[in-house]
Amino acid sequence: MEKWVSMPKVELHAHLNGSIRDSTLLELARGLGEKGVIVFSEFENVIQKDDRSLTEVFRLFDLIHIVTTDHNVITRVTQEVIEDFAAENVVYLELRTTPKKNESVGMTKHSYLEAVLEGVKAVSTVDVDFRPHDGDVRITGNSPPINATCNGSTRKKIYVRLLLSIDRRGTAEAAMETVNLALEMSDLGVVGIDLSGNPTVGEWTTYLPALKFAREQGLYVTLHCGEVPNPKEIRSMLDFLPQRIGHACCFEEPEWEKLKSSNIPVEICLTSNIRTNTIPSLDVHHFADLYSKKHPLVLCTDDSGVFATSLSNEYNLAASAFGLGRREIFELTRNAVEFVFADDGVKRELTELFRIAEQKLDQ
Ligand code: IMP
Ligand code: ZN
Repeated sequence: MEKWVSMPKVELHAHLNGSIRDSTLLELARGLGEKGVIVFSEFENVIQKDDRSLTEVFRLFDLIHIVTTDHNVITRVTQEVIEDFAAENVVYLELRTTPKKNESVGMTKHSYLEAVLEGVKAVSTVDVDFRPHDGDVRITGNSPPINATCNGSTRKKIYVRLLLSIDRRGTAEAAMETVNLALEMSDLGVVGIDLSGNPTVGEWTTYLPALKFAREQGLYVTLHCGEVPNPKEIRSMLDFLPQRIGHACCFEEPEWEKLKSSNIPVEICLTSNIRTNTIPSLDVHHFADLYSKKHPLVLCTDDSGVFATSLSNEYNLAASAFGLGRREIFELTRNAVEFVFADDGVKRELTELFRIAEQKLDQ
């Protein structure tokens, strides 16, 4: 694993609350159990298990939603998730989250997001660059470059950008509210919109006006696409030409053709696809075909907490399942710099970082 942990990595598909640490979830659930909000024993085994079934995964999401309804918890989870990714050498992280309201604790979607931002600012183990820069002007600018040397000691740095998720259970109005919130927070690191949630719920066209508006206003858009067989929806999503899509599991030949000719990058989440039974096994995973056709791809975790994985583990899985060496995996992550939702200055800095890392690759 060490060779994957030490490799610089780009993570583009990580749901904030799905990336919660087991230990934190356990501690928070125990606290809620003591207060009588949940029956702790009903969740204890599921939290402590690595190999969760699909039903258990959804039970865990239910629990996560119960424990993450407090500003302090959101802040803590955000800080920990970023520190965990940074600890395994993720140098660029896009975190996505669904803004939530909870009147009983005075939480609005706006204050939820402020709590997330507090978490970003609270990260202490690495320097965090989370504010978008002014277009192309900045190269290293006023924040220290990656792995900056300060007073003789080297500090690691991670870029963090936020995407707001539109939940497929919500209304068109709620989706528009999310887009407006993203625009309001665009100076604070919110760069795009994601469409996610239960793929069997709702019609994606409900969210089309909000997604079109997001794009017109300069936000990036990525869509969870093809998690269940729904060719009409998949084709319509591809016609929208999002900047990226997540998963692309249940495609048939016409959708593959459309995807390949569009060149839309795909966020691949191996463990998630297997755990949710979206793909029966890695030897029939579409990664192999897309990779051999040189379609733009990026390996991601989806929900590292819920699926008990890490980005290093996803790299390790891909290497062994598809016979890829260290260099191939390195190139895969380096190529992902092209489709990050950040300006050219950030891309240039990441490119330089990967250039330096490449020199050490074969040592
Ligand atoms: P949050 O948005 O930070 O609360 O992250 C958890 C949420 O992300 C879940 O409640 C889902 O709405 C969404 N999510 C996580 N994993 C998946 C997935 O595999 N498919 C679709 N939606 C997902
Ligand atoms: Zn996802």
